[in-house]
Amino acid sequence: MALDTAVPEAVATFLVVSTPKAWVDVASRRVPELLLDHANCELKAASTALGFLYRYPDRTDLAQRMSRLAREELRHFEQVRSIMQDMDIPFARLTASRYAGGLRDVVRQDEPRKLLDLLLIGALIEARSCERFAVLAPHLPEKLGKFYAGLLASEARHFEDYIALAKSECGIAEQDIGARLEQLKAIEAALITDSDAQFRFHSGMPS
Ligand SMILES: [Fe+2]
Ligand SMILES: [Fe+2]
Repeated sequence: MALDTAVPEAVATFLVVSTPKAWVDVASRRVPELLLDHANCELKAASTALGFLYRYPDRTDLAQRMSRLAREELRHFEQVRSIMQDMDIPFARLTASRYAGGLRDVVRQDEPRKLLDLLLIGALIEARSCERFAVLAPHLPEKLGKFYAGLLASEARHFEDYIALAKSECGIAEQDIGARLEQLKAIEAALITDSDAQFRFHSGMPS
């Protein structure tokens, strides 16, 4: 079955590197682990959105958007869990991939730079997720491929939301945001292309 999925232009130009074909090959052969980790990722995306609500409760626009985002990510979590049930994939605990931790390690601790870093990292994770759904969809069983093709539009929207918030909430000059983004993009690209012994939704080059 050929699914017509393209990486949205804004996401494709935002990311420094594309997902290696070797990762797609492994992912299409390891669907149960892919889905287990994907379910974890949706839960973490909801939890990250809630984290912004707790950390910055006085910011009204941020609070409204993050509250909506948390609900949407939880809805994705429910959808992944029911697809796993349909496919008879039992639940198992998985350790986290190095990806999000590798990005969070470089978050600066002084405000408003901390808020900026967290929002830009959010944008990167959403953009990468969108790209992975797009490149994976044609290589998956039909029902799952259609589900992923549907998810990629939400993740592209989340990416745009994070970028918009980075620009509107931090009071940091656009050129400084751009410079920081270049640094974070380079770290993200290395996490995707460096050899990675573990397979996960956001893992690097299969070793
Ligand atoms: Fe999601
Ligand atoms: Fe998302």
